[in-house]
Formats: sequence, structure tokens, C-alpha cells
Amino acid sequence: MTEEWMECLPELGWLEDRELRERCAEAFAQACQEGGWTPADLDLIPMTLGFAHAPSLRTHIRAVACLARQTYETLRMIHQGDARLLPDYPTLLAGALLHDVGKLLEYARTPEGGYVFSTKGLLLRHPFSGAIVAARCGLPDKVVHIVATHAREGDGSPRTVEAQIVKKVDLLHFESVRQLLADAGCNA
Ligand SMILES: [Fe+2]
Repeated sequence: MTEEWMECLPELGWLEDRELRERCAEAFAQACQEGGWTPADLDLIPMTLGFAHAPSLRTHIRAVACLARQTYETLRMIHQGDARLLPDYPTLLAGALLHDVGKLLEYARTPEGGYVFSTKGLLLRHPFSGAIVAARCGLPDKVVHIVATHAREGDGSPRTVEAQIVKKVDLLHFESVRQLLADAGCNA
């Protein structure tokens, strides 16, 4: 099962801790099963229903994981490895990978092949449903915290530095894509 998800999301392989890696894969597997998706559907589900022509959820998850890793590597290089100035890498990466796992419960496919908010998604946005899945799969509280607080639901409450980074790189990819599509004349 983990191997199947490693193929879908190779960035899972950056998690050296086997248990953490397996718990992340389990969270994707459970959300997929509950939402009625297969791993291949991650290439079809849009990253957002907020604008047209959005890249897939898989592309977005991978982009956020890569941006989080690059942020970590930049801080490590610039701060010359000063541990006081480094976020916790496994927590950051697991949170980046899982931040939108709840979208597998928030979205549903219509008989015509479109994508809409699911009945559950209208009640529980993905930060809530994703945090529930992550907690159920035994992810550490620091990772569940990132999933729960990465969007506006977390505004007004304290965020760990790892949650701050995921929130910002998530927005970086989201806003960049939206603006680039708009600039390209797409219906964004
Ligand atoms: Fe996201």
C-alpha cells in the first residue's frame, strides 16, 4: 500500500522515518477509500474548485511538498545548519504532503464527470476532515496541527513554524497558478 502511494507521491520517500511514511500513506489510502477515489484519481481531481483549468490535486500536493523542502534547505544553507533556526523537517514535510488530504472527502465527482463539493465537504472543509483522517491514522499532533491550521480555519490561533511555512508555500503555489492562468487568458 505504501509503495502504491510512493509511486503516486514520490516525495513520501523523503520521509526517512518508516512509521511516519506509512502513516502518511495510510491517511491517503483511508481518505481515498472514504471519498470513493483511487490513487489515479489524484491526477484528475482539480486542486481547487475556485477557478477553471486548475492543475490536479496531485500536482499541487507535490508542489507544496517540494516548496516546503526547498524552504527547509534554504534555511539550512543560509543559517549554516544552526539548529535553532531550523524547522523540524519530518513534521514540515509530512504536514506539506497531508495538508490537502481532506480534499478527497471535500470534493465529489458528478455523473457528468465534473467536480463539486460533497455533502460532507459542505459541512466540513478539508482542514477539518483532513485533520480527522490524520489523527485517526496516528499522525503526530504537530502534523495534525498543520493540516488543521493551514487555511483560514487556522487564522486567529497560534501556528507552529512548520504550519506557518506550509500555509505560505500552499498559498504561493495557489496564487501563482491562479495569476498565471489569468495572465494566460484562461478563465481564472
Ligand atoms: Fe493546498
